[in-house]
Amino acid sequence: MVEKDKKRDPMPSPNATPEEIGEFWDTHSLADYWDETHEVEFNVNLKSRQFLTPNTPDQKQDVDMSKIKKMTKIGIVGASGYSGSELLRFLVNHPSGLSVELATSETYAGQRVDRVLPHLRDFIDLTFEPLDIDILKERVDVVVLAVPHKVAMTYTPQIVAQGLRVVDFSADYRLYDADTYSDWYHVEHTSPELIQNAVYGLPERYREKIRDAQIVANPGCYPTSAILATMPLLNNRLIELDSIIVDSKSGISGAGPKPKDTTHYPNREANLVAYNIGKHRHTPEIEQELSAIAGQNVTVTFTPHLVPMTRGILSTTYARLKQPLDTDTLLEIYTSFYQNEPFIRVLDKEFYPQTKSVLGSNFCDVGIEVDERTQRVVAMAALDNLGKGAAGAALQNLNLMFGYNETDGLKSPGLMP
Ligand SMILES: NC(=O)c1ccc[n+]([C@@H]2O[C@H](COP(=O)([O-])OP(=O)(O)OC[C@H]3O[C@@H](n4cnc5c(N)ncnc54)[C@H](OP(=O)(O)O)[C@@H]3O)[C@@H](O)[C@H]2O)c1
Repeated sequence: MVEKDKKRDPMPSPNATPEEIGEFWDTHSLADYWDETHEVEFNVNLKSRQFLTPNTPDQKQDVDMSKIKKMTKIGIVGASGYSGSELLRFLVNHPSGLSVELATSETYAGQRVDRVLPHLRDFIDLTFEPLDIDILKERVDVVVLAVPHKVAMTYTPQIVAQGLRVVDFSADYRLYDADTYSDWYHVEHTSPELIQNAVYGLPERYREKIRDAQIVANPGCYPTSAILATMPLLNNRLIELDSIIVDSKSGISGAGPKPKDTTHYPNREANLVAYNIGKHRHTPEIEQELSAIAGQNVTVTFTPHLVPMTRGILSTTYARLKQPLDTDTLLEIYTSFYQNEPFIRVLDKEFYPQTKSVLGSNFCDVGIEVDERTQRVVAMAALDNLGKGAAGAALQNLNLMFGYNETDGLKSPGLMP
């Protein structure tokens, strides 16, 4: 709250140009202007900065304004793609100073964003631009790389050299060991020296490190589900480490928009198939993080499947318990483990995660059951591969990196039915 009679420059009028509004907020603190009397003007200003702002008292309380000194300008490289455009959609609901300044696309350069992405009409007033990497510093505070692996590591060194922070959707900085990266991605890492500057962007595990990270390596969608399903078991040393099986089902958007035989509609409609058994590229990422939690080497059998739906992942993991335990006990452990996590919902006994409950959201629903006859535990996690599996997680990370409330722009439920 500001002091009532403190002298302040007037805010730009609703008729001001976006440039005038931009200049003003570059040199003034949002915190100084956030009060009851200026609510209307404030909202007009934020709307002019491209985003409609649902501004309820609850959301205002959520915003820690003392940490917000000015708008944080985001540049999204690859904003026309599935995960980049999903980040644009999430940002529409951000209640405070995160704003997209730059959206790049080589294919759609020069076209209005809402022509290419019609669901964003009336929410985003931007035109796709080609990437000019040398001028990023003049335009933005942080760069989100929503581009394929191998491409991200060609851009990151130049972005970091400009003093900018990076959130990378690709796998290029997720693995701590460049040789492991080469083994699984069949290409040499071109900037292995930057791996040590990267933090694996799973807030449920690395929240504090993410706040100060230069590069946030946004986790893969399958790994996020596998890690969140099993983390309480590993953390409490409850399972045999050589017994973990991760059986995952994913919607087709996880494979990106480029048509292939395996994603072509007639091949996928009413059809279910496993793929890349024992050699999917998310395997080393799952093993790296499960090993870090367990404090010992963990190997997993990971079997992904494609299911005939657009979005969503359900990972069902199986492991042998070290000692007899029942479902009630494990539910207590899970509930307590995730009690402060805003996006992990541990389901009640005999309720199992389903993909529709988390569709379009940043939630990950987790369920647990012990098969008492075999003493195997079955831990499940459902998430949206483009939500908690990509863009939602990226926004959660951006909120942490720039001092916003972690849930800003993200607290909405899935789409049922
Ligand atoms: N899909 C998912 O569920 C998911 C989940 C988690 C993580 N990810 C990761 O997120 C990244 C993007 O995946 P996606 O599914 O969103 O892919 P996508 O839909 O193919 O989007 C890729 C974007 O990158 C741009 N691009 C491609 N090559 C480029 C280059 N050399 N320079 C600049 N821009 C380039 C494309 O834009 P133009 O062609 O218009 O230039 C497009 O906008 C990948 O690393 C992927 O592994 C995806």
